[in-house]
Amino acid sequence: MLIDTHAHLDNELFDGDREAMIRRALDGGVDKIITIGTNPESWKRSIRLSEEYEQVYAVIGPHPTDGLQFEDSMIDELRKMAAHEKVVALGEIGLDYYWKETPPPVQYEVFRKMLRLACELDLPVVIHNREADSDLIRIVKEEKKNHHLNNLRGIMHCFSGDEAMLRESLELNFYVSFAGNVTYKKSHLPEVVSMVPDNRLLIETDAPYLTPVPFRGKRNEPAYVRFTAKKISEILDKDEEIIGRQTSLNACSVFGLV
Ligand code: NI
Repeated sequence: MLIDTHAHLDNELFDGDREAMIRRALDGGVDKIITIGTNPESWKRSIRLSEEYEQVYAVIGPHPTDGLQFEDSMIDELRKMAAHEKVVALGEIGLDYYWKETPPPVQYEVFRKMLRLACELDLPVVIHNREADSDLIRIVKEEKKNHHLNNLRGIMHCFSGDEAMLRESLELNFYVSFAGNVTYKKSHLPEVVSMVPDNRLLIETDAPYLTPVPFRGKRNEPAYVRFTAKKISEILDKDEEIIGRQTSLNACSVFGLV
């Protein structure tokens, strides 16, 4: 039993074999897939996929590297689309200092608006963070306090921070999700994984990106989430089945799935 909590099923790299790729996962032990739409067209495609496959759910939001294309009218659009029964969170939202095409102040503004919208809609958020740890935590804390976002909750997706970042994330009540990079040889992540409480641990592929070993360098797909589960079971010295069950339970809890 496995749940891939973060994949981009609508990505063009899957245009040639999308149905077979999704089937491989669902027939190969993946119970549910959360697909992430990153811009208005992608939101529509993601919701459509969630309608086509019972086990696929959608998350919609402006990806931080898409910030320059963001317009306030999209807030209303998101509000409407998020009412769909298969939309289970807002995201991925956050900050990205690696891809520099969107200036940080623009990213901050969109991120803040999205945190407020998620709480207004009472949905969890899926947070993307690349090289922006301290600003990201600062903004989440400021928003939580200044706008009384008492129902703010969600996931730090593709966690790649250090122990301090993990502490901050857990204190903010976030779940922590690990992708294929946990399997990479020089990764510091195994140490971090062992510090995550059982009830906050999630796994994901971020497909088509971040392909785990042994397929590193090739296109990623949700069926490969099992390699991340296996690696985590080795790190924690627990049965793969136990890791699968625990992370699936956590995924159901954060996204409100049955
Ligand atoms: Ni992603």
